[in-house]
Order: sequence, then structure tokens, then C-alpha cells
Amino acid sequence: MATPVLQLRNVRKYFGSVSALEDVGLAAYPGEVHAVVGDNGAGKSTMIKIITGIHRADEGEVLVEGDAEGNRDIAVVYQDLALVECLDIAHNMALGNLPRKFGIVLDRRRMEREAAKVLGDLKVRVGNVRTPVGLLSGGQRQVVAIARAVRMDRPIMLLDEPTAALGVQETAHVGDIIEELRASGKAVLLVSHDLDFVFSHADRVTVLRLGRTVGTRRIADVGREEVIGMITGAIRA
Ligand SMILES: Nc1ncnc2c1ncn2[C@@H]1O[C@H](COP(=O)(O)OP(=O)(O)O)[C@@H](O)[C@H]1O
Ligand SMILES: [Mg+2]
Repeated sequence: MATPVLQLRNVRKYFGSVSALEDVGLAAYPGEVHAVVGDNGAGKSTMIKIITGIHRADEGEVLVEGDAEGNRDIAVVYQDLALVECLDIAHNMALGNLPRKFGIVLDRRRMEREAAKVLGDLKVRVGNVRTPVGLLSGGQRQVVAIARAVRMDRPIMLLDEPTAALGVQETAHVGDIIEELRASGKAVLLVSHDLDFVFSHADRVTVLRLGRTVGTRRIADVGREEVIGMITGAIRA
């Protein structure tokens, strides 16, 4: 097997006296969709934030490929969406990488053109890119956040509950986007409570329970009953 682009080993994380992660390990590979499932409070979102560096692990190792400056080569869609409501769609999509004229003035036309192109390429229909994000539905915001992450074009893509606010058709659309990410060689980490979605799109699944990795299985080799058993604790390791 190829070298993992992302690896967690024996990661522990405390919030004060609350132990959020007790012992988490996983390895993600290029060209693979790796699902992470587990009950509410299992530690999935904390794990995502440790990978991106929002939180620091108290123990263990987080190995992430990065660029020469040591930046982690990661694009992420957080569960608690990080869009700015008062800014429009185009501005949100460009945050962190705003196009400038003469190196100073925000180049609005370019920003809008680029946002419209990315949304068009992904077949996302959210209307005018000048619409403030605060006026969008939950599903539309989620799709804009996903489009922004896809636009970053990083080797590692973290998606924390990307379909939580979506209807059937939008969910299928996000599934198509995930398939394209895999085909283009990205390592996709997909946190989801939607086992149908996981079984349709993931190559492997890691189950977290009470802050611990219960195990990792290939989707081709595991049944839903077994995964549910691992989530609930009926099956241990
Ligand atoms: N910033 C925080 N401060 C204190 N406790 C937190 C914080 N973030 C998460 N937790 C706790 O850590 C545990 C794991 O939470 P979380 O990672 O959000 O789980 P999941 O995403 O699997 O539902 C929970 O007990 C949660 O209450
Ligand atoms: Mg969560």
C-alpha cells in the first residue's frame, strides 16, 4: 500500500477534566475515501480539529504532509460551518486567498468570476454569487462551504458531516463531488452519521467510540450490522 498522507497515532485530547479523545489512530491514503463514524460525542469533530491544528493533541502523534513552509496541505469543511454571514458567496469562497489588484485593492470582478466558475464546474446552483451567505438555506451554505474547500485543491480533504443539512438530491450531488475528489487522487476523510452515504462512497471506515478507535474496516469486507455494533459497543475491536 502507498504511504499515508495523514496519520494519527495514539492521540489523546482533554478539555479541562473532560477526556474527548482517549486513543485515536487512523491512516488516510491518496485516492481513498476514508469514513469516520461514531455516536454523538465520540470525538469525531475534535479529531478533525486536531488534524487541522485548531486543537493540539495532548499526547500521541499527528503526521500530516505539508508544504515547504510547514503548512498542512489540508482543505476542510467544519461541522460548525465557518462561513461569514454578512459577506456574499463570492467573498466567502475566496477567504484566505483574496484576489487583489495592484497587490492592494480587492479584485471583486475576478473574485466573482472565479467563484461562479468553481460553482459552475461543480454544478452547484445557489443563484447570484453576490448573495450574502446569511440569506442562504442551511443546505446551500453547506454546498458553498464544500465548493470553497474543493477550490483550495489540497491533497487532503476533511469533511465533517457534509450532508447533515442536505436533501436527497443535494446529498447525491455531494456524493458525486466526493467521487471526483477520489478520482483526482485526494485523500478524503469523511465524517458522517449517514451509513447509507458511507457505504455508497467510502473505501474504508474507522469507528470511534467514547474517544477511542474501535477499528478500521474495508467497506468491501464489512456489513452494516458489524459497523453498528462497533458504534454502539456491542462489538469491541
Ligand atoms: N471545545 C470543547 N470544550 C469542551 N469539551 C468539548 C469541546 N469540544 C468537544 N468537547 C467534548 O468532547 C467530546 C467529543 O466531542 P466531539 O468531538 O464534538 O464529538 P462528535 O463530533 O463525535 O459528536 C464531547 O464530550 C464534547 O462535549
Ligand atoms: Mg461532530
